[in-house]
Amino acid sequence: MINYQEILSRYRPTSEEESKLKEISADIVAKINYICSLRGLRAEAVIVGSYAKGTNLRDGDLDIFIAFDRDYPEEIVNKEGLRIGHAVLPNGREKYAEHPYVSGEVKGVKIDVVPCYKMHFGDRKISAVDRTLLHTEYVNQHLDDRGRDEVRLLKIFMKSIGVYGAEARTFGFSGYLCELLVIRLGSFDRVIQFFSKAKGRVILDVDERFQDPMVLIDPVDPDRNVASPVSLESLSRMKIASKLYISSQDAQFFQIDYEKKDVAYHDRGTCIMIYSIQKPDLTDDVIYPQVYRFRSVLQKIMEAHEIRVISSEIDVSDRIYVLIETPTCNEDRIHVHTGPPVDTDNAVDFIESWKIRKRSRGPYLVGDRLYVDVFTGERSIEEIVRADIENYSIGKNLDKFKKNIEIMRFKGNSERMPVLDKFFGADVFRRNT
Ligand code: UTP
Ligand code: MN
Repeated sequence: MINYQEILSRYRPTSEEESKLKEISADIVAKINYICSLRGLRAEAVIVGSYAKGTNLRDGDLDIFIAFDRDYPEEIVNKEGLRIGHAVLPNGREKYAEHPYVSGEVKGVKIDVVPCYKMHFGDRKISAVDRTLLHTEYVNQHLDDRGRDEVRLLKIFMKSIGVYGAEARTFGFSGYLCELLVIRLGSFDRVIQFFSKAKGRVILDVDERFQDPMVLIDPVDPDRNVASPVSLESLSRMKIASKLYISSQDAQFFQIDYEKKDVAYHDRGTCIMIYSIQKPDLTDDVIYPQVYRFRSVLQKIMEAHEIRVISSEIDVSDRIYVLIETPTCNEDRIHVHTGPPVDTDNAVDFIESWKIRKRSRGPYLVGDRLYVDVFTGERSIEEIVRADIENYSIGKNLDKFKKNIEIMRFKGNSERMPVLDKFFGADVFRRNT
């Protein structure tokens, strides 16, 4: 049996960290409130997020909101919010969710200072972040200390299998979704039982408006599916990991920085190409959707040249990497060009036109249709990608790097790269065997 207390003691914030968070957050709250009173603003600082809910893990972040009276226009909230954010986080950088906000660091703790509107249950929300205040209240009303630790266990489990976080990087389970799952189902073990038995879409609340793989309606906002970011793959990973954990009782399901032994790279007799471009200095939520787009453009180029894609992988680290595996590194020498059925009016034209053109074979018949085999340029995949990528957009922040795309072919004995580790290490078990 897994000793949950031992796991919690490894990942729960230490008492030193707790007092540091308490000190830093109290200091920032006081500074924000002081600036608000100096500037005559009807606004106040509120601590939200997992620290305020007691569901935070070690080395977590602090989320501090500035809640403005509801009659302020949005421009004022944005402008004053940023100004206060910069004042309390001197090294802060502006980020953008639905409102702009400031993200920075104090004594090694990452802190977001986010402006929003004051909100009471039943108030119409003005922007999406306004719900967060109600989330904090709701969770604190429904979780006791035991429940808080059950949420921590669930977060540890989800982090270790790679499904924690709603951002575009993961498309997984947010902290708030973990909290609601424990509130709804009672404990970590029950959540695991639930996912291990779940089949198909996971519908905790029936609501036809939402067609996502998982649906759980926000108790403080009936128009929102808290599980909407959860992708089919993250959901499936959670289901299979729950089954494997129940059958194996393996402690590696609670190992957040689990390092797999170096996976062996090997020649699969295929063509593995790695395309890399510079990474712009932007947040993951901006970069990732464009990286997926970059991958799908490469897949489309292969498709246009009838090159079968066996598999693909992405990695965002020092640069952006997309791996595409195909059977060979060149396009086929022959392309089968499909002509019209013999019954159509242009069948004769098709034959006449090909009679005088360069071809390998045909026009010939298969069934009721005409075909002709033509020679292709027989170019390498690299040449094809370099020529064709110009005609596609890979996202507004990545397009400018297209002309400097680096293309390398994996030869079986290449130096280690995260994208190859992900590719060769892909498995749903978390074992070193
Ligand atoms: P965080 O992403 O920091 O989550 O968002 P968290 O609950 O504090 O969890 P960890 O421990 O840091 O990972 C802060 C708050 O913003 C709201 C939630 O109310 C959350 O508590 N939020 C965040 C959402 O409503 N939706 C999201 O997708 C993200
Ligand atoms: Mn947080």
